[in-house]
This record gives sequence, C-alpha cells and structure tokens, in this order.
Amino acid sequence: MSDKEIDEKGVNENDVWQISFLAPSAKERIGYPTQKPVALLERIIRCASSEGDLVLNPFMGGGTTIAVADKLNRKWIGVDQSVQAVKVTELRLHQQTDLFTNLYANSYTLQLHKYDYDALRSKDAFEFESWIIGQLGGVAHGKKGGDAGVDGTAADGAPVQVKRTEGVGVNVVKNFSVSAKQFDKAGFEKRVKAGAPVGYIVAFSFSKGAVQEVARLKNQENLSIKLVTVESIIPVSRKPSLSFEANELSREADGARVIELVVKGESPGGVEFYSWDFSYISSEGFKPSVIMDRDGVQRHSFAGGVHHIAVKAVDNDGLENMEVIKLKVNGVVEQLK
Ligand SMILES: C[S@@+](CC[C@H](N)C(=O)[O-])C[C@H]1O[C@@H](n2cnc3c(N)ncnc32)[C@H](O)[C@@H]1O
Repeated sequence: MSDKEIDEKGVNENDVWQISFLAPSAKERIGYPTQKPVALLERIIRCASSEGDLVLNPFMGGGTTIAVADKLNRKWIGVDQSVQAVKVTELRLHQQTDLFTNLYANSYTLQLHKYDYDALRSKDAFEFESWIIGQLGGVAHGKKGGDAGVDGTAADGAPVQVKRTEGVGVNVVKNFSVSAKQFDKAGFEKRVKAGAPVGYIVAFSFSKGAVQEVARLKNQENLSIKLVTVESIIPVSRKPSLSFEANELSREADGARVIELVVKGESPGGVEFYSWDFSYISSEGFKPSVIMDRDGVQRHSFAGGVHHIAVKAVDNDGLENMEVIKLKVNGVVEQLK
C-alpha cells in the first residue's frame, strides 16, 4: 500500500498486539505474581472506553487495571477477595496520585474485612454516630447536639444512643432509660408491655456497673435496654505496631552510605507486607517506591544529609500503620527521633 493510500484508508489493525511481557527487573514490577503490563491495559482501556466511563475489575489482583483506569481519567470499581490485592492497589494509586491531572484520584473509598480500632476511636464523634447506627441497620437523626441522649433509631424503631468510648458506666444507662421514654412515650410503653427492647446503647465496652443496671431495670421495672458493643456490629482489629532499625553496611566513594533498613511489624492478623517511601514528604503523602516487601528488609544508598523514610506495614486484615524515620547521614549514621 502506498503512503497516500495509508493516509486515506488507514491500515487494518494487526491481529497480534506487540506488547512486551514484564521483565523480572522491570521498573513497573511491584511483586504481585500475576501482574500485567501497563501498556497492555492502556491499550484495552483506551479502545474499550472513553474518559469518564466506568471500568470494573472484580478480580483486580495487583491493580494494574485500576491504576491505568485512574490514570486515563476513567471512574473505576475494583474488587478482590484478597486483602493484599486491595492494599497493593491502593498503594499503587498513592504512588501515581497527581492532584492536578487525575480527575478521580483521591475520591475513592476502601472497604476491608476489618476496621481499625484507633481510627474508629478518633473518628469525628458525629460522623461515627451516624455511621455506626447505619451499620446497625438503623437511621441516625443527623442532628449535632440537642438530641436529649437519643442519636437515632434502630431497625425496630427503638431509640439508639451511641458512645464512642470504652467502659460506659451506670449513669449512662440510668439517663438513657429516662431519655428513651421521653423520646417516644407511647412506643416506650408498648415495648415494655411486649417485653421488647426500649432502646439500644452502642459503645466500645460497658462497665460492670452498666451491665448490673441493665439487669436491675429488667428485674425491677421490666425495662429491657440492650448494650451493644461496636465489635458485635462490625469486625474490629488493631493496626500493626512497628519497630525499626538502620545499620550502615558500607561507604561509597562519593561519601554516600549503603544502609540496611529493617522493620518488624506485629499484628493480631499477622503482617502481610511492607511498603517503603525513601524520600517521604508529609505534604505529598506516602508515595512508595517499593510496594510489596515481604521480609521488611531493604538496602538503600543515602547521600549525606537528613532523610525521611516512611514505612508501612499492612496486615492480614488490611489494617496498616506507618512510621516515619528521620535518618541523618553525616560522617556517622544517626537515627533521629
Ligand atoms: C489472575 S489475578 C488478577 C490479575 C490482575 N489482572 C493483575 O494484573 O494483577 C486473579 C485475582 O482474582 C482474585 N480472586 C479469585 N477469586 C475471587 C473471587 N471469587 N472473588 C474476588 N476475587 C477473586 C484473586 O485474589 C487474584 O488476586
């Protein structure tokens, strides 16, 4: 075909796509065993969708499809039974996040098997109330303050009070028995007659006194108040704890040091992998250059000066914790607090 004919008619697409496989040392390799090349997914997504379309990958694995869809300004939904796959995909998104060019970056939510205890305890109290009542199957009132001790209603219509604390005491139960009645007198009396719960108190835990007061109200006044722990509504776990060590291995000709970084994570679910950002800048967030490190050991060369190294441990429940280490390389290697 002449150049003129090609210009006019174009060429038929070849039935073989020449896309190289991912070499073991390829820079884009993240360590996920079934990872596909970015170039392949770019081609598939470009020819099958337009900007703003929704890409679904229900078996997202190492997250190439999601990362590429995000980069190409598609909306996306990713699903995987493996927590590791979900977390690796999230870290890839962190790595490529560019607030100025990605339309959908930073606007995703992550759904995991378990919820982090510390994150729940420090969540905005009002947000927590609404969310946990929803998880209970009820409806939050959505009112900040002035709720007279009732934050919403359960699926059966009975009032719910939420405390974002541990060891909720006897007075909370006493006061709630009054506010539950004030909230809906007719409903309250109907429930007492039927022996149904007159209300629910949700908290992280309850004191012995609170439990005894519930028993007393039942025995003496035939009032049934249910104490519901957060953990009985949603699965909660604690994020991994981290300890860190830096050992100088050698000195290079230009004065840089090769340093071995060793991190150890402890978690009830067991640590799955570690991710490293060797030049962490807090205002830019965590941008790992190593996403999946199973052993928690890295060798890295650092020039003289102060370095901020961020390391994340991701556990079996998908919970994570990050530590930032300040390392001074200047004649000697010093770990600064
Ligand atoms: C072949 S890998 C996906 C590879 C992916 N295209 C990539 O580039 O890495 C298949 C994924 O499907 C997930 N998977 C298998 N069965 C599943 C199921 N029933 N529900 C959700 N995910 C599942 C596995 O955990 C695995 O991560």
